[in-house]
Amino acid sequence: MKIDFSLNGKKVSIDTLPEKRLIDVIREDFGLMTTKNACYSGECGSCIVQLEGQPVPACQIPVFTVRAKRIITIEGFMGTEKYLDIINAFNDMKCIPCPFCFTGKIMAVDSLIDNQRSPDTSEIMSLLSDHSCSCTSVTSFINGVKVAYQNREFRGEMLK
Ligand code: FES
Ligand code: FES
Repeated sequence: MKIDFSLNGKKVSIDTLPEKRLIDVIREDFGLMTTKNACYSGECGSCIVQLEGQPVPACQIPVFTVRAKRIITIEGFMGTEKYLDIINAFNDMKCIPCPFCFTGKIMAVDSLIDNQRSPDTSEIMSLLSDHSCSCTSVTSFINGVKVAYQNREFRGEMLK
């Protein structure tokens, strides 16, 4: 089946099985290997991409459902100011996710801080509960998300 969609801002087309998981298409057909496929069951958060701006586990998405939709992976996101809001905050707060959940956290945090108000600690903990993470300090993650929101808010003010 031929499936057209937008991947990191470019129109792409593949001929594949409709039920193939989006994570496998991203990694195998497009060679975007930074997004991981650790559990394949929607539990670990390592495969998160943005689908129409919302974070979704790519291991749970049959590729036929993304026809005509916009997908952003970490590779596409890394070139943006929005990415800098987060990674600069994480570095400042000594929050350094390992490759296992770097992608998922960055993509999920982007959606969380794209609101009009600062996320509170319980919201950040709720986000963290969607990730099987065993090696980043919870405190540094909470602080990193809060500073990332401040960075984004500050940049938004500068653009007004
Ligand atoms: S690989 Fe998709 S949630 Fe774990
Ligand atoms: S940062 Fe290593 S498991 Fe989450």
